[in-house]
Amino acid sequence: MKELLAQADHAVEKLRAARQNDLYPRFHLAAQAGWINDPNGLIFINGVYHAFYQHHPFDENWGPMHWGHATSRDLVHWQHQPIALAPGDADDRDGCFSGCAVDDHGVLTLLYTGHVWLGEPGDDSKLREVQCLATSQDGIHFTKHGAVLTPPAGIMHFRDPKVWRQDEQWWMVVGVKDSDLGQVWLYRSDNLRDWRFERVLAAAEHARQGYMWECPDFFPLGERQLMIFSPQGLAAQGYRYRNLFQSGYLLGNWQPGEAFEVIQPFSELDAGHDFYAPQTFTAADGRRLLFGWMDMWESPMPSKAHGWAGALTLPRELSLSAAGQVRMQPARELTALRREAQRFDAVRCRNQRLPLGDALHELLLTLDLTGSDAERYGVNLGDAARLYVDNQAHRLVLERFSDDPALCGCRSVPLPTGDHLQLRLFIDRSSLEVFVNDGEACLTSRIYPQDGDCRPGLFAESGEAHFPAIAGWTLDSIWQ
Ligand code: FRU
Repeated sequence: MKELLAQADHAVEKLRAARQNDLYPRFHLAAQAGWINDPNGLIFINGVYHAFYQHHPFDENWGPMHWGHATSRDLVHWQHQPIALAPGDADDRDGCFSGCAVDDHGVLTLLYTGHVWLGEPGDDSKLREVQCLATSQDGIHFTKHGAVLTPPAGIMHFRDPKVWRQDEQWWMVVGVKDSDLGQVWLYRSDNLRDWRFERVLAAAEHARQGYMWECPDFFPLGERQLMIFSPQGLAAQGYRYRNLFQSGYLLGNWQPGEAFEVIQPFSELDAGHDFYAPQTFTAADGRRLLFGWMDMWESPMPSKAHGWAGALTLPRELSLSAAGQVRMQPARELTALRREAQRFDAVRCRNQRLPLGDALHELLLTLDLTGSDAERYGVNLGDAARLYVDNQAHRLVLERFSDDPALCGCRSVPLPTGDHLQLRLFIDRSSLEVFVNDGEACLTSRIYPQDGDCRPGLFAESGEAHFPAIAGWTLDSIWQ
């Protein structure tokens, strides 16, 4: 594997030398160059946070999947590391697909899907997927140990293991496609090498609930148990399920040895254009954190022309509201990136566009819903996107603009109740993350500003809007 890893590292360096930075993130995890998708193997172990990701180091398009790697001591500042896994062994010949990391008595241990095309590369109807194991003594270099779990006859799509320790046992959930219905299966093990099937934990009842459930995750949150997964095959329904694929959760109750009792139907986690394949992990202090992939399969990705594609979201803290809704908020550590605060006076804006000043990367804004009568009002980011209250539809809308019609369009959430709306925006060179009312809703979208201009401004159309509180920050880079 050493030779393959060296070739992969070399390939990234070569692409990196030609990379253009206009769209490249300042404060989001991304590869130095080439393609990335899902976050993998998120873990805090031996004093270090590790984030791995699906990576094609030879090209800005998806291809034979490697695991890229970055580390951090504080969850804020990151360092690129050498590529951790390269495909090419019998069990993972055509890809080291998504998976997780666990702390096995201090040994950083990865469980991932070995992928092999049995027909033509890319032919999804003929493939073999098995769960593989790799370990590392130093947290940087990995030794592969081959397959530890193979699917029963008849199952081909069998991937994205997520493993945790509970009640002196290892537990694994895996995403499965069984007769064109998405499912999540549960296994258990004493030693991470020998796995016993436990039960089907959750399953689509009909095709409208998805033909494949990718990237399952299963963990306690508050008093409940949460199952996160990324179903493929949900059709758009009005404002819901607008993207090609979704990511969301089922809420319920579960104890080892029992069935998963679902008490709330599937809800999407994020309402933006670009959010997929999230994975959670536990912070040093026990908080449940999440990274997602901040893109969508089959979307145009203009950064490909710059030698790279794909980024992860900011790390987010999960909590559960009393009503059983998952809330996501930016990890509190991220305030360490702030430079001096820029405070603005309250603004009344009538049929106007008011620039707020130079590049701001974080913006905290209160909108007075009862004191505003404009038909549409909110924030624009140069001409790349705008986020506004639609007073007729009673929704908060994120609208993205582009020369490419495939990238244009709106995503939205219902306006929360209350007189005021609080918005926290993170504006990177080609992305926007919006946290509404401390995480009651989230919208995450890639944006593609013309000439790099995504400076925020306020606007109100057909009437007046009142912004009683506004503060902004520029943020430092996360790269060390
Ligand atoms: C999700 C996914 C996973 C798979 C990986 C391949 O985006 O399709 O199911 O393991 O990406 O890169």
